[in-house]
Amino acid sequence: MTEKTFVAVATLDEVPPGTKRVVDVNGLSLLLCNTLDRLFAVRNLCSHAYETLECGRMRGGWISCPVHGARFDLETGAPINPPATMPIETYEVRIIGDSIEVAV
Ligand code: FES
Repeated sequence: MTEKTFVAVATLDEVPPGTKRVVDVNGLSLLLCNTLDRLFAVRNLCSHAYETLECGRMRGGWISCPVHGARFDLETGAPINPPATMPIETYEVRIIGDSIEVAV
Protein backbone atom coordinates (compact mmCIF):
# COMPACT_ATOMS: atom_id res chain seq x y z
CA MET A 1 0.00 0.00 0.00
CA THR A 2 1.32 3.45 -0.89
CA GLU A 3 1.44 6.01 1.92
CA LYS A 4 -0.55 9.12 1.23
CA THR A 5 1.37 12.36 1.25
CA PHE A 6 -0.45 15.44 2.46
CA VAL A 7 0.61 18.68 0.81
CA ALA A 8 -0.22 22.15 2.19
CA VAL A 9 -2.08 23.99 -0.58
CA ALA A 10 -3.75 27.02 1.01
CA THR A 11 -4.76 28.61 4.28
CA LEU A 12 -8.29 28.58 5.67
CA ASP A 13 -8.81 32.32 5.13
CA GLU A 14 -8.02 31.88 1.42
CA VAL A 15 -11.10 29.68 0.92
CA PRO A 16 -13.98 31.18 2.95
CA PRO A 17 -17.36 29.38 3.12
CA GLY A 18 -19.19 29.40 -0.21
CA THR A 19 -16.03 29.93 -2.27
CA LYS A 20 -13.63 27.79 -4.25
CA ARG A 21 -10.00 28.16 -5.17
CA VAL A 22 -7.75 26.60 -7.78
CA VAL A 23 -4.46 25.23 -6.47
CA ASP A 24 -1.61 23.53 -8.25
CA VAL A 25 -0.16 20.37 -6.70
CA ASN A 26 2.81 18.87 -8.51
CA GLY A 27 1.50 20.20 -11.82
CA LEU A 28 -2.04 18.95 -11.15
CA SER A 29 -4.82 21.53 -11.08
CA LEU A 30 -7.12 20.91 -8.09
CA LEU A 31 -10.16 22.79 -6.92
CA LEU A 32 -10.76 23.43 -3.21
CA CYS A 33 -14.45 23.89 -2.49
CA ASN A 34 -15.84 25.24 0.77
CA THR A 35 -19.48 24.16 1.02
CA LEU A 36 -21.64 22.34 3.58
CA ASP A 37 -19.35 23.68 6.34
CA ARG A 38 -16.37 21.71 5.11
CA LEU A 39 -13.67 21.62 2.49
CA PHE A 40 -13.56 19.32 -0.50
CA ALA A 41 -10.79 18.85 -3.04
CA VAL A 42 -11.46 17.61 -6.57
CA ARG A 43 -9.55 17.53 -9.81
CA ASN A 44 -10.22 20.74 -11.74
CA LEU A 45 -11.25 18.76 -14.79
CA CYS A 46 -14.67 17.65 -15.99
CA SER A 47 -14.91 13.97 -16.89
CA HIS A 48 -17.09 14.74 -19.91
CA ALA A 49 -15.07 16.85 -22.36
CA TYR A 50 -12.19 17.68 -20.02
CA GLU A 51 -12.97 21.33 -19.45
CA THR A 52 -11.99 23.02 -16.17
CA LEU A 53 -14.61 23.25 -13.42
CA GLU A 54 -13.39 26.37 -11.64
CA CYS A 55 -16.08 28.65 -13.12
CA GLY A 56 -18.87 26.19 -12.35
CA ARG A 57 -21.70 26.86 -9.92
CA MET A 58 -21.21 25.33 -6.49
CA ARG A 59 -24.08 24.61 -4.09
CA GLY A 60 -24.69 22.26 -1.18
CA GLY A 61 -22.12 19.58 -1.87
CA TRP A 62 -21.97 19.68 -5.66
CA ILE A 63 -20.29 21.59 -8.47
CA SER A 64 -21.59 21.99 -12.00
CA CYS A 65 -19.52 22.07 -15.13
CA PRO A 66 -19.83 25.47 -16.84
CA VAL A 67 -19.65 23.93 -20.32
CA HIS A 68 -22.50 21.41 -20.61
CA GLY A 69 -23.96 21.54 -17.11
CA ALA A 70 -23.10 18.14 -15.65
CA ARG A 71 -23.08 18.24 -11.85
CA PHE A 72 -20.73 16.25 -9.63
CA ASP A 73 -20.97 15.22 -5.98
CA LEU A 74 -17.96 16.83 -4.28
CA GLU A 75 -17.65 14.02 -1.73
CA THR A 76 -17.58 11.08 -4.14
CA GLY A 77 -16.93 12.75 -7.49
CA ALA A 78 -19.93 10.89 -8.93
CA PRO A 79 -21.87 12.55 -11.74
CA ILE A 80 -25.38 13.66 -10.69
CA ASN A 81 -26.74 14.38 -14.15
CA PRO A 82 -25.76 14.00 -17.83
CA PRO A 83 -23.93 14.47 -20.04
CA ALA A 84 -21.12 13.26 -17.73
CA THR A 85 -21.18 9.55 -16.93
CA MET A 86 -17.78 9.15 -15.29
CA PRO A 87 -16.77 10.49 -11.86
CA ILE A 88 -14.23 13.24 -11.31
CA GLU A 89 -11.25 12.57 -9.04
CA THR A 90 -11.59 13.51 -5.37
CA TYR A 91 -8.85 13.96 -2.79
CA GLU A 92 -8.75 13.66 0.99
CA VAL A 93 -8.47 16.98 2.81
CA ARG A 94 -7.21 17.68 6.31
CA ILE A 95 -6.84 20.90 8.27
CA ILE A 96 -3.69 21.42 10.33
CA GLY A 97 -3.87 24.69 12.25
CA ASP A 98 -5.00 27.15 9.59
CA SER A 99 -3.40 25.19 6.79
CA ILE A 100 -5.43 23.17 4.26
CA GLU A 101 -3.66 19.99 3.20
CA VAL A 102 -4.61 17.62 0.40
CA ALA A 103 -3.58 13.98 0.02
CA VAL A 104 -1.98 13.31 -3.33
S1 FES B 1 -17.27 19.39 -20.46
FE1 FES B 1 -18.23 19.28 -18.53
S2 FES B 1 -20.25 18.62 -18.98
FE2 FES B 1 -19.28 18.65 -20.90
